[in-house]
Amino acid sequence: DPGALAKSLENQALVYFSGITLAILEEASRKTLLNAVAKARAAGSRVAFDPNYRPLLWRSREEAQAAITEALAVTDIALPTFPDEQMLFGDATPQVTAGRLGRLVGEVVVKNGEDAALIAVKGAFQPVPAVHVATPVDTTGAGDSFNGGYLAARLAGHAPADAALRAHRVAAAVVQVRGALAPFETLRAAFGN
Ligand SMILES: Nc1ncnc2c1ncn2[C@@H]1O[C@H](COP(=O)(O)OP(=O)(O)O)[C@@H](O)[C@H]1O
Ligand SMILES: [Mg+2]
Repeated sequence: DPGALAKSLENQALVYFSGITLAILEEASRKTLLNAVAKARAAGSRVAFDPNYRPLLWRSREEAQAAITEALAVTDIALPTFPDEQMLFGDATPQVTAGRLGRLVGEVVVKNGEDAALIAVKGAFQPVPAVHVATPVDTTGAGDSFNGGYLAARLAGHAPADAALRAHRVAAAVVQVRGALAPFETLRAAFGN
């Protein structure tokens, strides 16, 4: 419903979507979504996108590459995960991912599980180490909670490196509980003041 979609994107500080959304839409609906996002961006919303490549959801790797590249063209903050990008584009290292995406998007944060996240802003790379968790219970929702923490911090005016630290703390709290959700107060405490 293009009308409802456009209305939902009106006057938002941030618009956030994922490659999983692209994967489950028909080609025409995908176009409708990306047009609406482009319009919201032109009207002043910041756009964040997590490519979140899931091979089983796509007809072909080529189709995923094309759709995800189109989405990156309307993105201000890209939040990929290294193993996904490695599968989809054959990147050898997170540095390669950050460099490749940094040519398309102004702000990139490459997540990599328990390893450091790599930030690329205007050609400058900065690794931000993750929080060490001795015994992760369940990593479901790790990437999504990182994204939530990062974007909340950026909207609150924190710089990318500070936002990544907060995001790692939020994600570390989430991997220590079963399921994708931790209690809100736990997340708030991890995010910090
Ligand atoms: N074993 C772990 N120990 C500590 N932090 C982790 C661990 N696994 C994931 N995280 C946190 O979750 C974030 C996202 O995890 P990752 O596995 O890269 O994403 P996704 O869930 O998208 O595959 C990491 O950047 C890190 O902050
Ligand atoms: Mg992910």
